[in-house]
Amino acid sequence: MEKRIKKVILPAAGLGTRFLPATKASPKEMLPIVDKPLIQYAVEEAINAGMEEFIIITGKNKRTIEDHFDAAYRLEEKLKSSGKDKLLEEIQKLNDVHFAYIRQKTALGLGHAIGCASPFVNNEPFAVILSDDVIDPEYPLLEEMAKIFYEKDAPVIALQEVPKNEVNRYGIIKGFKEGDIYRIEDLVEKPSIQKAPSNLAIIGRYILTPDIFQILQNLTPGAGGEIQLTDALKKLLKKRPIYGYLIKGERYDAGDKLGFIKATIDLALKNNELSEGLKEYIIKKARSIK
Ligand code: UTP
Repeated sequence: MEKRIKKVILPAAGLGTRFLPATKASPKEMLPIVDKPLIQYAVEEAINAGMEEFIIITGKNKRTIEDHFDAAYRLEEKLKSSGKDKLLEEIQKLNDVHFAYIRQKTALGLGHAIGCASPFVNNEPFAVILSDDVIDPEYPLLEEMAKIFYEKDAPVIALQEVPKNEVNRYGIIKGFKEGDIYRIEDLVEKPSIQKAPSNLAIIGRYILTPDIFQILQNLTPGAGGEIQLTDALKKLLKKRPIYGYLIKGERYDAGDKLGFIKATIDLALKNNELSEGLKEYIIKKARSIK
């Protein structure tokens, strides 16, 4: 098996029902936080972690994703002739990145979406990024996870502690600490609050090994009637160890309206052009809120 992680899968074929009607005819992954769509944050995070090959899983109404990562000659010419060099640089910076697009014909679940990439991954480890889990862009999470993968030669999944009354919205693990990381003993998708084995939730960053594909191919639908990646990982656990890495930076569930608004505020506060004006506005607003 090739050891180096070069490929990243970006599933973007979900229906985005929590964001309707915005996601009726356009993809959730194209919703912008400040000035960049969610999926561009994910692609830039992967580039910063040294990934070289990008596989985007798309579905119905997702064509704008392909257009977004395509060159835009007319626009580029216009920006060049009007001397808007900074904007030009910004829109050209991903022009050399090559993307493969795979269509998931029916949104049968995250596990199924990842399984669709199987013919393109061969016998290599790969990363998965869920664009709607927005992680602070300055935090090299995938690199940290890759280090663990290289050391342990085992899949690594990102974890975050969540409030106990929210465990039913996540995949939850049972595990014990081995130094700084968790050795996973069990995983369960969207457990009831009473039955959850912990409050350690699986977050949308994974480093996986290709043996997951065979499991995904034979998986039956789980929670919510979907083919769940968590169920495949549970089966994989019978064959090999899996590790969990507790993330340190901020993470926002941008697939959820409140999480999306929080991400927008926090990233805008980090933006040089916006921070002053926004701070002023927030302080004024906070004073007026009863
Ligand atoms: P979510 O669980 O957020 O589902 O998917 P969703 O359909 O996008 O949104 P809601 O829950 O209906 O609001 C997590 C990730 O997995 C992808 C999504 O695009 C998102 O990046 N996904 C999910 C697929 O690619 N295919 C699927 O069948 C399901």
